[in-house]
Amino acid sequence: MDLVVERDYPTLSRAAADVVTDLLTVKPDARLVVATGETPLGLYRNLADRKTRGEIDTSRLRIFQLDEYLGLTSDDSRSLYRWMREVFLEPLAIGDHQVTRLPGDAANPSEACRAYDRAVEQAGGYDLAILGLGPNGHLGFNEPPSDADTPTRVITLTPETVHSNARYWGGEDRVPRQALTAGMKHLLAARHILLLVSGQGKKEILARTLEGPVTRELPASFLQRAQRVTVISDRDAMPTSPASLAGEV
Ligand code: F6R
Repeated sequence: MDLVVERDYPTLSRAAADVVTDLLTVKPDARLVVATGETPLGLYRNLADRKTRGEIDTSRLRIFQLDEYLGLTSDDSRSLYRWMREVFLEPLAIGDHQVTRLPGDAANPSEACRAYDRAVEQAGGYDLAILGLGPNGHLGFNEPPSDADTPTRVITLTPETVHSNARYWGGEDRVPRQALTAGMKHLLAARHILLLVSGQGKKEILARTLEGPVTRELPASFLQRAQRVTVISDRDAMPTSPASLAGEV
């Protein structure tokens, strides 16, 4: 696992955009699974600027949705697909036909999750997983406890996640209590995982992710065993122990 510590959020976002740009250069038809949330917004803005300047080609990308609230249509203002469309897909001119969704409004959500996993497998897995770190150590909505081999599935959000997601939608009452999440199994098997972590509030959970025991009670700790992980953190989120500091740039 590589830890890259950047000065601040703008440099973190540019460094993350460089990782994605490098991948697109060598593999224009890469398969990406992408997070919503606040942390990757700067990365997506950087990529959109590069797209506008003609520096990257997104026409052959294949995108997989990371998670979605259960019971929402894709045009609900709280839909994570809608969020992804606004901050990532449209600015990067990625069409709906390039996206494998996790449909929150599926008639049979469990079957939709199985179909999603089949699609990931048929695509040969993810080339790059762009992930944020939940305050409770979740990846996607793989809430604790989540084992390393969990499939894509319907999950009940923990009170901590409901609380943290309330900032997106203006109150806990507006946060759906269940969600669909890409499973840990395919996420951990991604050929490259990019974990973005920003802000003081993530400092403790990042330290536990990097150096704590590997446990289903902190799903992100399984990243310690994944094949290729790059953690890009800003200084505010940087763990202070000597082992982690070794990776500072
Ligand atoms: C969002 C997602 C979540 C977030 C995590 C961090 O699609 O999957 O795991 O990445 O909760 O959220 P932020 O970046 O808002 O702190």
